[in-house]
Amino acid sequence: MTAVSDFPHEIVVCMGSACFARGNVGSVQIIRNYLEDRGLADKVKVTGTLCQDSCKEGPNVCFDGTCLCKVDPSTLPDLLDERFGLK
Ligand code: FES
Repeated sequence: MTAVSDFPHEIVVCMGSACFARGNVGSVQIIRNYLEDRGLADKVKVTGTLCQDSCKEGPNVCFDGTCLCKVDPSTLPDLLDERFGLK
């Protein structure tokens, strides 16, 4: 079993109704596919959260505590490449 502290990275996807409806409904699967494809699934904890009161900036996805605002799910792989230093 993997302890939470074993994950060097964390991605938190806002699943509040505004972010969910504006794109995050598909973001979790895109993130999971991205991590699997690159062998990073055991290095990143992916969780969802309730509304963070930043709906106007959404859809919101946070990477290691930094909020990525107005995330277009189709650009998530590129955003994650940048975050992981793969681009
Ligand atoms: S629904 Fe995501 S910040 Fe409100």
